[in-house]
Amino acid sequence: MTIRSRTAPEALEFFAGGGLAGLGLSGFEVTFANDIDAMKARAWRANHSGRLHEGDVWGLTAAEVPGRPTLAWASSPCQDVSLAGARAGLGARRSGAFWGFWRLMQALDAEGRGPPIVVIENVVGLLTSGGGEDFATVCRAMAEAGYRVGALEMDAALWLPQSRPRLFIVAMRGLGGATLGGPVEPFHSARVRAAHARLDDATRAAWAWWSLAAPARRNLYLADLLDADDGADWFGADQTRALLALASPLHRQRLDAAASSGERRVAAAYRRVRVEAGRKVQRLEMRFDGLAGCLRTPAGGSSRQYVIVAEGGRIRARRLTAREAARLMGLPEDYRLPGSENAGLKLMGDAVAVPVVRALSEGLLLPAALGLGRFAA
Ligand SMILES: C[S@@+](CC[C@H](N)C(=O)[O-])C[C@H]1O[C@@H](n2cnc3c(N)ncnc32)[C@H](O)[C@@H]1O
Repeated sequence: MTIRSRTAPEALEFFAGGGLAGLGLSGFEVTFANDIDAMKARAWRANHSGRLHEGDVWGLTAAEVPGRPTLAWASSPCQDVSLAGARAGLGARRSGAFWGFWRLMQALDAEGRGPPIVVIENVVGLLTSGGGEDFATVCRAMAEAGYRVGALEMDAALWLPQSRPRLFIVAMRGLGGATLGGPVEPFHSARVRAAHARLDDATRAAWAWWSLAAPARRNLYLADLLDADDGADWFGADQTRALLALASPLHRQRLDAAASSGERRVAAAYRRVRVEAGRKVQRLEMRFDGLAGCLRTPAGGSSRQYVIVAEGGRIRARRLTAREAARLMGLPEDYRLPGSENAGLKLMGDAVAVPVVRALSEGLLLPAALGLGRFAA
């Protein structure tokens, strides 16, 4: 789908990070972006020619937002609702930034420039944090502003070799986004259906089961996206032994079986703290299903992801690189990563996978936006 840029509907990208949402919003032109973090802002500018305002979303006024946006995208901070973290919910300081975004949408509304499409991206933990009240509050706010609202759980693993389930709340007003008569897998997952059932009647009356076709079967595996073995920064024998010593007997067995299989087998692995016999122990958990585990930001004590290759009786291990992480987010090779590995991994760990946004854009958002009749296709 190719849209000439002068006719493309305008999009705003909030909590923009490295701008991966904007890269996936095919057919839209990102006219304004915002992020508070200096490293993220540098990464955004290195990869986009548009305008990014660096600062707190709470500090923005409608006057600083240009044009007449058709869509506003908000990947609001997820740490407080992450399944991996403490479940403080949207009331917590970081996720509270969502309300800074929403206040701005209301200010645009007051000027008659409120976007007809709003998309919120977050971790799936938002469906249940605060006993489901956080999700209900977001949906209620949108319903009260006259939007039809619905949610899709989309796992990047349908497009890319990375397990990364994420929640996309899509709200539309005054235009005809394609809907279904009821929930359909995979995007209207059991978790989405359960959250919908907990909504109050008025919010449920504004609900839409957005229609989006599932993609063709993925034919891309973790091994396809890794750097060449030659020249990769493999651990020495002692470091490899120490890492593998953290594997549980079951995982070690699987690894040994892979090593003796005669084939090249690639695993992704994380160190995780598990409680065994009442004691906290560090474990190396490996997966051989051709997928990387969900990329996480290395800040906050999460360990980095490892690559383990078993081949010809030999086992080698190393860290996943930032460039490999970028490929796992669907970025092209010419995407400019920050200078340090750590910053690159932080950028990717926080980001949204580009092909997921593209699928949402091409399958639902852009057709709805073009249906406005204000734009040429
Ligand atoms: C989950 S990340 C989104 C990343 C982005 N979607 C991407 O693909 O790179 C959340 C972003 O919100 C930014 N952020 C957090 N609090 C903010 C605030 N109060 N105002 C503006 N940006 C904020 C963070 O710096 C971070 O980049």
